[in-house]
Amino acid sequence: MLRFSLLLLLLPGLFAAALAGMSTFADDNPIRQVVSDDLHELENSILQVVGQIRHALSFARFATRHRKRYESVEEIKQRFQIFVDNLKMIRSHNKKGLSYKLGVNEFTDLTWDEFRRDKLGAAQNCSATTKGNLKLTNDILPETKDWREDGIVSPVKEQGKCGSCWTFSTTGALEAAYAQAFGKGISLSEQQLVDCAGAFNNFGCHGGLPSQAFEYIKFNGGLDTEEAYPYTAKNGICKFSQANVGVKVIDSVNITLGAEDELKYAVALVRPVSVAFEVIKGFKQYKSGVYTSAECGNTPMDVNHAVLAVGYGVENGIPYWLIKNSWGADWGDSGYFKMEMGKNMCGVATCASYPVVA
Ligand SMILES: *[C@@H]1O[C@H](CO)[C@@H](O)[C@H](O)[C@H]1NC(C)=O
Ligand SMILES: *[C@@H]1O[C@H](CO)[C@@H](O)[C@H](O)[C@H]1NC(C)=O
Repeated sequence: MLRFSLLLLLLPGLFAAALAGMSTFADDNPIRQVVSDDLHELENSILQVVGQIRHALSFARFATRHRKRYESVEEIKQRFQIFVDNLKMIRSHNKKGLSYKLGVNEFTDLTWDEFRRDKLGAAQNCSATTKGNLKLTNDILPETKDWREDGIVSPVKEQGKCGSCWTFSTTGALEAAYAQAFGKGISLSEQQLVDCAGAFNNFGCHGGLPSQAFEYIKFNGGLDTEEAYPYTAKNGICKFSQANVGVKVIDSVNITLGAEDELKYAVALVRPVSVAFEVIKGFKQYKSGVYTSAECGNTPMDVNHAVLAVGYGVENGIPYWLIKNSWGADWGDSGYFKMEMGKNMCGVATCASYPVVA
């Protein structure tokens, strides 16, 4: 919200004093409370700091729109520089006319290293899926599939600064399975998985696997509702309560490592499937179209982000997976992205599984 920089504009007399005490500028500082929330003023205050130079206005609008809180003049300057670097990368990519577009989003003032640290779990060795247990039949698969049209895909959530993607992939799969089985929506607890699923080789905000989360829930006797056990984006002490269980897992199905035909069968005929892939530099600015890359890997040691495949289709001749992310509904294509299908692109079929609920 840039309260500090606004302060510089409104109360120039305090500038020097505030700068001197900047590193200890506490939240309870009474000076902060005199600051207004006027968006136009916020923009002006940023322009004041970075100057009327190229991209300054875009940056000021970006910071205002995403309610950024920068704590010092130094930070504003640093974020501006990162924003400009990302903006150049986005524009240069979009000029190439490839199958997907990048765009400015709330992560455009972050470097790749910062983003990776905040959002991605460590790569997990998901070799347990080398032998899957899905039985294929001769049923004909539809040309395209989008489970959102069946009304069973829950709204996109936001994991915040915690490598808990695997918990959102898990709840996304379970929420869809629940809606499919019982004909009504539910929101389930990611925090219980962050806090309680450690014995199944999961690491809270430092990563985990949906397949291991399904095993935990099966063993534990259920997963609480979101309302009963809300998300904090921090590792915490397990507060699971049997009385608040929203769903039980009776079984799970693992897709054989890399077998996109199995994954397609499951997404076509069964329900949405938890998948993982390798996020690499640039992906955080994805906006639309079919993502493809020659740089991402597809081994169990490469994948670093778990998400939910909710369908597939073809766009401009390129087959794709339709995937629900957990970076908020403003990210990408309304919270979703499309990943090229048929090449195990970025490991999308390396680490896939879905639950059976009761
Ligand atoms: C991954 O898991 C497989 C099978 O359990 C094991 O053979 C391999 O050594 C593991 N790799 C790493 C790097 O942990
Ligand atoms: C699926 O994978 C998980 C670990 O990732 C494993 O614990 C579980 O036994 C596997 N399930 C089946 C049915 O093979």
